[in-house]
Amino acid sequence: MTEVVYTRIDAEMPLPEMPGHLNGLSSEKLERYHSLHRQDDRKRMLAGDLVLRTTLAKKLRCDPSSVTFLSQRHGKPILAGIKGIHFNLSHSGNYAVAVISSSEAGIDIEEIRTLKEPGKIAEVFMSEKEFACYSNLPEELRQKWFYRIWTAKESYIKQTGNGIFEGLKSVTIDFSGPRILAYKNNKPLSALFFHEIDIDPGYCAFVCSEDQTCSDPAGFHLKNELHKEKGMNFFTTQVIGDVVRSSII
Ligand SMILES: CC(C)(COP(=O)(O)OP(=O)(O)OC[C@H]1O[C@@H](n2cnc3c(N)ncnc32)[C@H](O)[C@@H]1OP(=O)(O)O)[C@@H](O)C(=O)NCCC(=O)NCCS
Repeated sequence: MTEVVYTRIDAEMPLPEMPGHLNGLSSEKLERYHSLHRQDDRKRMLAGDLVLRTTLAKKLRCDPSSVTFLSQRHGKPILAGIKGIHFNLSHSGNYAVAVISSSEAGIDIEEIRTLKEPGKIAEVFMSEKEFACYSNLPEELRQKWFYRIWTAKESYIKQTGNGIFEGLKSVTIDFSGPRILAYKNNKPLSALFFHEIDIDPGYCAFVCSEDQTCSDPAGFHLKNELHKEKGMNFFTTQVIGDVVRSSII
């Protein structure tokens, strides 16, 4: 089973600078948090952490503050001491999204932006086949295709946990058939399934997992909860999982 949850981070949402939340972050993440200068980046990081913790805590029937993460070699977070529940996180623009799965999974979301020289960026991360397809597309279809390849590929390198060490150009994503296929050094990665996640037309998002099916994305109303819990240690509020999970945005 593979599930996707997301939250929208509104511009007016206050930065949840609550001691309880920050204490729940790993020391590595806390250090990264303090090194972020932009409030938007801090919000995204905290919102992603909150969505993920709350969802995992519900599944594990524990308090979100007791969910402990460890990092694998290239930084992929895993649950400390718990097998059989896999997850991954991504944030971009106004969204934080998480995937929870019974098998290894990766997720990526990107805000679709007009890039100055997309062709030059495409050449860096696309395989030869992908770049040839991209270059042959009519101009008006290129941007969407660029972001679909980007996010599908990122979901794959996050599924494996290798990140950029996977070798971006050695992977080819093929959208031409009814099932999205991926190849690593021209060998098919047949055990993997790619699920396109539809959250907002201004964004592209993909999940990569061994699961053939994936739930529709479910939204968290983070904003209301953050307002409501302002000034409190919201990880000790037992109901937060129930409340935030209850409505689809
Ligand atoms: C993790 C990585 C693969 C993706 O990062 P990103 O797109 O910048 O950021 P995302 O928001 O999608 O994901 C960040 C989350 O991924 C998770 N993560 C970190 N390292 C990871 C890894 N090796 N594998 C899987 N997940 C990882 C963390 O939960 C992290 O959340 P946090 O920053 O709040 O702790 C990054 O290492 C990277 O290298 N990105 C750039 C790769 C690139 O050039 N892609 C071009 C298009 S294919």
